[in-house]
Amino acid sequence: KVHDKLLLTGAAGGLGKALRDRLKANCSVLRLSDVQAFGDALEGEEIILADLADAAAVNAMVQGVDAIVHLGGMSVEGPFGPILQANILGAYNLYEAARKHGVKRVVFASSNHVTGFYRQDQTLTADHPARPDGLYGLSKAFGEDLSRFYFDRYGIETACVRIGSSFAEPRDRRMLATWLSFDDLHRLITACLTTPVLGHSIIFGMSDNAVTWWDNSRARHIGYVPQDSSDVFRDAVYARTANPDLNDPVAQYQGGGFVVAGPFGG
Ligand code: NAI
Repeated sequence: KVHDKLLLTGAAGGLGKALRDRLKANCSVLRLSDVQAFGDALEGEEIILADLADAAAVNAMVQGVDAIVHLGGMSVEGPFGPILQANILGAYNLYEAARKHGVKRVVFASSNHVTGFYRQDQTLTADHPARPDGLYGLSKAFGEDLSRFYFDRYGIETACVRIGSSFAEPRDRRMLATWLSFDDLHRLITACLTTPVLGHSIIFGMSDNAVTWWDNSRARHIGYVPQDSSDVFRDAVYARTANPDLNDPVAQYQGGGFVVAGPFGG
């Protein structure tokens, strides 16, 4: 096992639940954290509840771990207040704690919504500038910049994984392009945790889907090889969904429905 103690934040969420068992192969002890309670620790686990916005709680949560998989936070578009607390202040608190405790590597759950205002006929690499599609995407762009600063200044390595759509199966036509299976998510996180030199890297979190908007050629050093594909679900998804209106921004932009969400300011 490459890591003694690995911290998983957002452990009570959809991806946290999917990764809880899978990540045990990566470490001797898996420390699980969330703001909401989610039961008791099993063998090989620790549970520390913490609000990411609470610097002292985050500091205690990070103490003693050698790497972090950071999934915790608001995971959809919505009003700025909770996003500010959980994703912006929360990411700052996490990196400050990582600096103080000498944590060397972080896998940060970024999002495709960092680049959601690119069109669906554009193929992006990690070199394309951010084009967030809302407050949530902006908060993930902040996390990417924050982690780059902590790499440049303090040498903490981070993989910013711009997760597409990680669910058991693709739910709609958009997700045929953005789907990331749970097993591929675990393969990708494992690659980020084990590659010899990670640096500060941006990688698109996707399975081996035939239709894709993203090109991971800038992240070959991570050594991620997806083994699943949304293609096996294509016919079933087409059969149960209507043809999209191609004049609708939801069908034009990579961010899908997020590009028309809000405003939330009243
Ligand atoms: P989720 O919403 O199911 O889980 C997020 C977890 O974070 C929840 O258990 C929640 O209680 C916790 N959380 C929220 N605010 C917190 C706070 N202030 N302090 C501590 N914990 C807090 O989301 P999901 O789907 O599991 O996603 C995990 C991560 O991956 C998120 O950061 C999300 O933005 C990112 N992501 C997920 C995608 C997906 O397809 N599932 C796509 C793109 C990004």
